[in-house]
Amino acid sequence: MGIFITLEGIDGSGKTTASGLLKGGLERDGYRVMLIKEPTETLLGRFISSEILGAGKENRFSIKISDRKTLALTALFLFSADRTVHIGEIKADLKDFDVIICDRFTDSTYAYQAAGLDNADEDKELKDFILSINEFILRQKNFTIDRTYLFDLKPETALNRLNGRTHKLDGFDSRPRDFFDSVRNNYLYLSELYKNRIKIIDAAGLPEKIAGEVADDIKKLAGKRPGCKRE
Ligand code: TYD
Repeated sequence: MGIFITLEGIDGSGKTTASGLLKGGLERDGYRVMLIKEPTETLLGRFISSEILGAGKENRFSIKISDRKTLALTALFLFSADRTVHIGEIKADLKDFDVIICDRFTDSTYAYQAAGLDNADEDKELKDFILSINEFILRQKNFTIDRTYLFDLKPETALNRLNGRTHKLDGFDSRPRDFFDSVRNNYLYLSELYKNRIKIIDAAGLPEKIAGEVADDIKKLAGKRPGCKRE
């Protein structure tokens, strides 16, 4: 049985680059590695990408979302549905792979869908609801995340990286700076809540160095898992 790893962080934190390096490095050491991401590539995942992440690029058939909370709730249910199905596939694949690395998972839902919400009663209720849905799905599916690496980076550095990219920023990437501050704070809150699972990585460093550090930690975890390749 393999181990399930998630990579988290604000847009531009470098986790996607690191995931490629990680896969290469672990495979050279003989591990069978699978890289996956959320939203998934299924019809539902692609619907989320176009309708929720591409919000703003409207067409005649787009769902119309009037306000922040409606968007948060709609996104919460859609990402959660995509994930519920995805977990079934991941569980099956864990039989054939030593390490499965997922670029974004439950913590993204809290960090992003709770972004911009404050601690006033109504907002707090929604934030707690997001946390409990995440936990509920994992419990129902009898599934655990073995380790999460949180690529932590100042939003201004991340935004500079994104602005340097050649592709045009999508609806999500182009949101204001305080949105990313809020996403980052939500991640840091989660890292306190789930201290044993979430490991903070300083994402300002060199990608190769970061990938090496994460790979070493994954190898330690894999070494403790019966049936997973040993060091
Ligand atoms: P994408 O361009 O697919 O990848 P990335 O930014 O990780 O390279 O964008 C994914 C976006 O989806 C990202 O801005 C975070 C957002 N997201 C949520 O809001 N909630 C979620 O549950 C997930 C999985 C992602």
